[in-house]
Amino acid sequence: MHSTCSASAIRRTLASLTLVACATVSGACLSKPAPTAPPGGVELYTRYCAACHGANGKIAEAVTNPVTISHPEFLRAVDDQFLFDSIAYGRPGANGRGRPGSKMSAFGLDEGRVLSDDEIRLIVGYLRSWQTEPSIELEPFSSAGGDPLAGAAIYAAQCSACHGEDGWGTAGPRLAGATLQATASDAYLRHSILTGRPGTAMPSVPLSDADMADLVAFIRGLDD
Ligand code: HEC
Ligand code: HEC
Repeated sequence: MHSTCSASAIRRTLASLTLVACATVSGACLSKPAPTAPPGGVELYTRYCAACHGANGKIAEAVTNPVTISHPEFLRAVDDQFLFDSIAYGRPGANGRGRPGSKMSAFGLDEGRVLSDDEIRLIVGYLRSWQTEPSIELEPFSSAGGDPLAGAAIYAAQCSACHGEDGWGTAGPRLAGATLQATASDAYLRHSILTGRPGTAMPSVPLSDADMADLVAFIRGLDD
């Protein structure tokens, strides 16, 4: 982690030195390709993500907590900030919880940073190239006032078999954890639950807004 961190710090320093050199020796290095130019989104994805998410964004069999990041229902419901933050902050968690080796590390935090912001943007651009449905505006929704105890009963009956009693995921992805809690809006959770992810195990679960508020209030309390 630390060597990668200092390597990228050195790369950034080199990049700014190159800029200075270009500015002083006017035009001299314009014709040369920038030595620090990051590889494209496909290459970065292949190097850092494909081992878990597969070449096509369909998570590898060996990783439990599957989530299909190329799914049309997913891509049309999230904005670029959600994708950026999911990569930058990852889906880390306590050692010993969840399946060992399947937790996504934080790729963009200064501590142990692996990818620069520009590189993360290139990967986001690559994920977007998979999108087949136009992006949608999510219907506003708030779980404020929802009763987490009532939500717990709905969760136990309809969700915990796949998402785990503690939200740490089994046949479905983890719903607990700081990144999802911070990046997923109530409207996104409601939309995901109502729509499901056709073609995967995630069913469409029609709930009234009152039940949905209870359920989402409960999910908000699932944390590491
Ligand atoms: C070690 C395995 C692993 C690696 C490597 C990995 N991920 Fe993940 N990723 C996961 C898992 C597992 C989840 C689902 C959340 C959970 O269950 O913790 C996830 C979740 C995501 C999500 C959120 C999906 C959603 O529906 O909320 C995005 C976006 C994502 N990963 C993109 C990437 C990108 C891009 C890379 C490469 C920079 C990457 N991941 C590298 C395992 C990994
Ligand atoms: C039969 C198993 C199953 C059940 C039951 C189920 N889910 Fe899922 N859920 C999944 C799977 C699998 C995915 C990921 C699908 C994919 O993208 O490949 C998912 C995805 C999700 C997502 C998107 C997560 C993200 O990071 O984008 C949310 C939110 C979610 N489920 C909530 C729920 C809730 C709440 C319930 C109960 C009302 C529920 N699910 C019931 C299997 C299930």
